[in-house]
Amino acid sequence: MSDNKRLLLIVSGGIAAYKCLEVIRRLRERGHAVRCILTKAGAEFVTPLSLAALSEDKVYDDLFSLTDESEMGHIRLSREADLVLVAPATASILAKMAAGIADDLATTALLATDCPVVVAPAMNVRMWEHPATQANMAVLEARGVRRIGPVEGDMACGEWGMGRMAEADAITAAVEDLFSGRGRLAGRRALVTSGPTHEALDPVRYLANRSSGKQGHAIARAFSRLGAETVLVSGPTGQPDPAGVETVHVETALEMLAACEKALPVDAFVAAAAVSDWRIAQPATDKIKKGKAPPLDLVENPDILARLAGAGNRRPGLVIGFAAETETVVPNAAEKRRAKGCDWIVANDVSAGTGVFGGDTNTVHLITAEGVEHWPPLAKDAVAERLASRVADALDKAP
Ligand code: CTP
Repeated sequence: MSDNKRLLLIVSGGIAAYKCLEVIRRLRERGHAVRCILTKAGAEFVTPLSLAALSEDKVYDDLFSLTDESEMGHIRLSREADLVLVAPATASILAKMAAGIADDLATTALLATDCPVVVAPAMNVRMWEHPATQANMAVLEARGVRRIGPVEGDMACGEWGMGRMAEADAITAAVEDLFSGRGRLAGRRALVTSGPTHEALDPVRYLANRSSGKQGHAIARAFSRLGAETVLVSGPTGQPDPAGVETVHVETALEMLAACEKALPVDAFVAAAAVSDWRIAQPATDKIKKGKAPPLDLVENPDILARLAGAGNRRPGLVIGFAAETETVVPNAAEKRRAKGCDWIVANDVSAGTGVFGGDTNTVHLITAEGVEHWPPLAKDAVAERLASRVADALDKAP
């Protein structure tokens, strides 16, 4: 059993609130202290009495209770915890957290806390997929807030999709991992490339592609969440640097290669960047004027994935490439796996109309020496989590 820790559990309003009773029971069984804040909406779904009985502690539900403030001010409440868990986390509480709004005890405690925060989102699939919720979640994750779920399944509203709160055992396991400072990739080093590269034509123009960096950044976050010391080498993207990840910003393929070689040795390397295959041999030193056609004298860029896969005794333990294809996706990707000497390749269809470039979801096929796995359409974050967890499985098994 790990040392006893203190959890501050914030229960906001949602039908999934009943699951947090089981989380409290399990954590108490393992000897951890759980103190609960129940929001007004949360109290519509579970009673303060149930939370108090299971946590064997007082339940806090009113910011302006003078007795509470004198016994246990909201600042102390948030500081005297090793971890804050928001479960269920509604779209509304995520939005307030992202904006720094503190208008009740729960949100005030969240703004005042200096300990790690975990959220277990639970909401209708459309609310989860709404750009506002996705943007709020991205802001929170970039600030270091960890997320468990949501998962796909039937919803209380009768719809099916992503938005169900993770189950009590997954939440308990994640909380315990964080309590013990242990993650499945603790002690491992991971390297991820992300985004496009920009290859200069002249001081103001460049060759680039449509990569947004969303998938690569999500993979770096997922590795870091599992405890890996993670280096992210990113081309120019609009993505925020993930908290807790060493992010190296580069522009060109040559810079990306140099940064990757510098980060070696690593246990796992994921090449998610859309590296430009070519660069301009001699970019103009001055801006090319309108009347003149730019000289497109292209030379091939080094293949970063192939270079690292063939790096001899500095080769990463597990080398994973991506394959962006628009036709015969799986056979082309399988051939890329062979040609580049990587262990796994994640194939995705980036044809016009799939919305992969810049979008939030991805349908991928994982190609390994054992064969091909067809994954269902998933949020890019979910693809990242699955991949990181598969990497942890493979490294556990490696000699
Ligand atoms: N890659 C790389 N360095 C390059 C080109 C690609 O590391 N100079 C990596 C990508 O990060 C990805 C994989 O190789 O993991 C495949 O990239 P992709 O663009 O699908 O394939 P290419 O090798 O560029 O081949 P093609 O454009 O002919 O499909």
